[in-house]
Parts: sequence; structure tokens; C-alpha cells
Amino acid sequence: EPDFITDKAAMRSWSRSHRSHGKTVALVPTMGFLHDGHLALVAAARSLADVIVVSIYVNPGQFAPSEDLATYPSDLRGDLQKLADLGGVHAVFCPTNLYDYGCGVGGAGGRGGPQSAAGSFISPVSCIEAAAEGDGSAHETWVRVEKLERGLCGKSRPVFFRGVATVVAKLFNIVDPDYGVFGKKDYQQWRIICRMVRDLDFAVKIIGSEIVRESDGLAMSSRNVRLSPEEREKALSIYNSLTKAKYTAQHEKTSCQELNDIIIQSITKAGGRIDYVEVIVAIPSFLFSRIHMCNIIIVLCFYRYCNINIEQSITYP
Ligand code: PAJ
Repeated sequence: EPDFITDKAAMRSWSRSHRSHGKTVALVPTMGFLHDGHLALVAAARSLADVIVVSIYVNPGQFAPSEDLATYPSDLRGDLQKLADLGGVHAVFCPTNLYDYGCGVGGAGGRGGPQSAAGSFISPVSCIEAAAEGDGSAHETWVRVEKLERGLCGKSRPVFFRGVATVVAKLFNIVDPDYGVFGKKDYQQWRIICRMVRDLDFAVKIIGSEIVRESDGLAMSSRNVRLSPEEREKALSIYNSLTKAKYTAQHEKTSCQELNDIIIQSITKAGGRIDYVEVIVAIPSFLFSRIHMCNIIIVLCFYRYCNINIEQSITYP
């Protein structure tokens, strides 16, 4: 049975004590409602470190007011059972409110925490007044990975990555892990965390873990339970379209535009509504002259259906 910890200070001293005994610590941050995709991250973490911490926290800072914070699926009991059954997890960190600084005003909104975006805006004057009254409770420090957070999913979710980077920075500061494990399903999120860690000199090594899919190919996601059978069927067209694009890229001389068209056509034909599709050639610049354009391609596809975001990517080779 993993230790169940809800308090920041208790989490910090738990971690410190293990580290002082020479143990390495891996953190797997999640928002709960765990599925096999999450459990695969835990398995990856176990092969890296002596001590494994899974955090479960639905972070209000990464939801826009229009998004599904209040109805985000949760099942803490089920999650704890799954982690106990899996074994090899030493602590589950479930803070009730990471934005509660213990003095009133700040922690309000949703499940606790800042209403993201402009929602939590407090005028400079009222901040100064609050400070004068000894109330430092409002959260106002954000981590922004300026370029990477703007493209792809950031276009339609302008405050999302700011919230993610900030909460992950907080979790790293509380748990102080040697390793942080993230899924490549949320490809942009993974890259943003890598960049934040590099730019801010966090002493944590970030590991990207492969996408885990249902047997028919749909990437596992906590939000999949919201899909009606028809929506579930349509969502599958994302994987099918990516597979088609990947096959074409591997077997024919093609272009990003052509791959883009293949994906769009195949999803629209199945009745899906697309938010964006981007085909990105990712080649480290020092290899540019030696590798053919299409040797390494990342296909990112974001598809918004009934307010459910499904983000999938396929990387090869
Ligand atoms: P959540 O959606 O719960 O995902 C937690 C971690 O599991 C993320 O690193 C995500 O990429 C990974 N994951 C989810 N589904 C996966 C799948 N099918 N295959 C592989 N990995 C998968 O992502 C978040 O929570 C939050 O933004 C968080 C990082 C916890 C910050 O709040």
C-alpha cells in the first residue's frame, strides 16, 4: 500500500527523508481517473528510480473558465486501488488545493485554486492593499514557455500550458524528484516541460513515455468516458488518419501539405470536426543537410468534439 499524502510539507519531508537515505525519486504527475496509459508511466518510472510518487491533482490553473473543471472525471478510490494492485508505488500525493496559501481570498474558485486566465485578475492596487493587510494569498506567479506554449493546442487554449508548466514546477519543488515521467500522447506538454526544466535549471530528468492505445487504436484518455458510442466511433478516425499519413510518409515521396490533406480528409469523411492538424518535420538542425526531409515526422492532430479534446501524435522512426 502506498503512503497517502495530502499535505505539501508532509510530501516534502517524505521525499527528503528518502533522498537522504540515498534513494532516487521519480514523480508521475496526473489528474487522476487513472487508466492503463497512466499505469504505463508508473511502470516506466519504476525502471528508473528507487522510490515512485504518483500525484493526483485536478489543476484548476490549466482550465479556462469555459472548460470542464467542475465535471472532470474522478474516482480517487478506484485510482488508489489500481495503484495498489499495480504495486511498486511508494506514495500517492493528493493535495486538496495547491493554491491555498493559508490566508483567505486566494484559493477560491472551482475545486480550489485560481480561476485561470483573466478570471483571477486582481488589480495592482487591490494586490497592494491585500499585501498591506498581510494577505498574500492570491496566486500571481506563472511559468510561461513563451514560444512553445503559443502554437498547436495553445492556439485554442491560451492559458492551458501556462497552468500546466506552473503546476508541474510547483510539484517539482514540493517533491524534488530525480525523474519526472510524462506521456507523449500530450506531445506539446511533454516538450514544454522539457524546455522549462532546461531553461530554469530544475535538477530533474524528464522522460517521455510512449502512447498507450485501446485495442482499436484510440489513445487512452480520462475524458474518453464522455464520448457517446457515435463520438467514440468518430474519434477513432484520428488514429486511422494518422496511420494512413504515417504509411504514406514511409512509402512514398510526399510533403507535409499532402499528409495534412490525407488526415483532414479522412477525419472529415468520418464526420469528425477538426480544431487543427499540423504535420511537423522535426529534425535536429545539425542533421538537416544529411537527412531527407521526411525521415522524421511528427504528426500532431487535435480534434475537438463536444468539448472533449483528443490530442494524438505519431512519431517515427
Ligand atoms: P493527465 O491527463 O491525467 O495525464 C497524466 C500523464 O499521463 C501525462 O503525462 C499524460 O501525457 C499521460 N498520459 C495520458 N494518457 C496517456 C496515454 N494514453 N498514453 C501515454 N501517456 C498518457 O496531463 C495531465 O494529466 C496534466 O496536464 C498534468 C501533467 C498532470 C499537469 O496538471
